[in-house]
Amino acid sequence: MTRILTMDDLDFKDKVALVRVDFNSPIDTDKKNILEDTRIRVHGETTIKELSQKGAKVVILAHQGRPGEPDFIPLKQHAKALGRILGKSVKYVNDLFGEKAQDAIKALKSGGILVLENVRTFPNERKKGSPEEHAKSEFVKKLAPFVDVFVSDAFAAAHRAHVSIVGFTAVLPSVAGRIMERELKALGKAVEKPEKPCIYILGGAKADDALKISQYVLNNDIADHVLTGGVVGHLFLAAKGVDLGKPNVEFLEKNELTIFVSGIKDLMEKYPERIKVPVDLAVEFDKKRKKIPVEELPTNHPIFDIGAETVKKYIRIVDDAKSIVISGPMGVFENPEFMAGTKGVLEAVAASKAFSLVGGGHTVAAVEQLGLREKMGYVSTAGGALIEFLMGEELPGVAALKTAAMHMKC
Ligand code: 3PG
Repeated sequence: MTRILTMDDLDFKDKVALVRVDFNSPIDTDKKNILEDTRIRVHGETTIKELSQKGAKVVILAHQGRPGEPDFIPLKQHAKALGRILGKSVKYVNDLFGEKAQDAIKALKSGGILVLENVRTFPNERKKGSPEEHAKSEFVKKLAPFVDVFVSDAFAAAHRAHVSIVGFTAVLPSVAGRIMERELKALGKAVEKPEKPCIYILGGAKADDALKISQYVLNNDIADHVLTGGVVGHLFLAAKGVDLGKPNVEFLEKNELTIFVSGIKDLMEKYPERIKVPVDLAVEFDKKRKKIPVEELPTNHPIFDIGAETVKKYIRIVDDAKSIVISGPMGVFENPEFMAGTKGVLEAVAASKAFSLVGGGHTVAAVEQLGLREKMGYVSTAGGALIEFLMGEELPGVAALKTAAMHMKC
């Protein structure tokens, strides 16, 4: 097996270290504020702090949101939060690879830290490509000459073959940061052979992976049950033929999720007992929570949470489980009116004797907010990347590090 190199394999003193982290955080989309800084803290207290202490000039690359979505904001606040976490000044420049960014890198002193602009402001950032293809991009070509080493720490985004994830590994000595290293070690162990009964609880708004992971864990007899909530739950209900009502159907259509409905329907027909969908929900009515049993759908109000009966039903399954994977919240927990579903399920997971693996930026934020971190088996920073890892897929960010390690040894 190809080994990846780590921060122990290089000397960082006075070197410019370009570090790709995952600072992608839950955002209050009205005020455009960071709601929860777990990911900034996790990278800050490990990789970034260590590099700075070793005398590197630390240049940080990260993304926040997706272009066109309300949480797509600059990284100025992230830099400020990082400074607060580390108790030292962190510079920010609203430029990614132009003259301003280059000058700011040149001005860095040993131990200094600089955050560059959101990488997704580069129009081709999210284009899928190989390290060699991405190395030809303007982003890599303009920035790499100012850098000595690339530190890949964004495990949570390593499933994306994006420019900032793989492009620099083709042209710079590249090693894994401490979070990348930790996640690969811990998850490798955690997924070896889950004890039965094993359940997967899938929620959140990024529902595109839900069908793939459900198929994988059910067809391979890894999971005994798949429990659904959040937008994933809506999608599974739609596949059952439930009409969710205009605003909810429109949400699924806008996010191009309805294409998964027929695949989910087939899967539900194959495993009618093993896939669980909500039996009741909570909608927003006059800015308040209003419960609605599934039989009373459709609704003209947006569905923001699972209901109390669903929580009870899920808790009974959680109580019998020996292994639990949970990725994605059950509702819009950032709004206290719609916290109950996520809270109820997460508290049950925390109280259970099962080994629990928790993933996803928003889920981890909810775990932190509820003070449940210490009661969970392993808390990963990753959501989508975790799911792909659990399916045995090679993550492009990890593959790129392996290739870089082979070249560096030659
Ligand atoms: C995540 O939060 O899962 C990662 O930051 C990746 O974000 P993306 O799904 O927008 O690529």
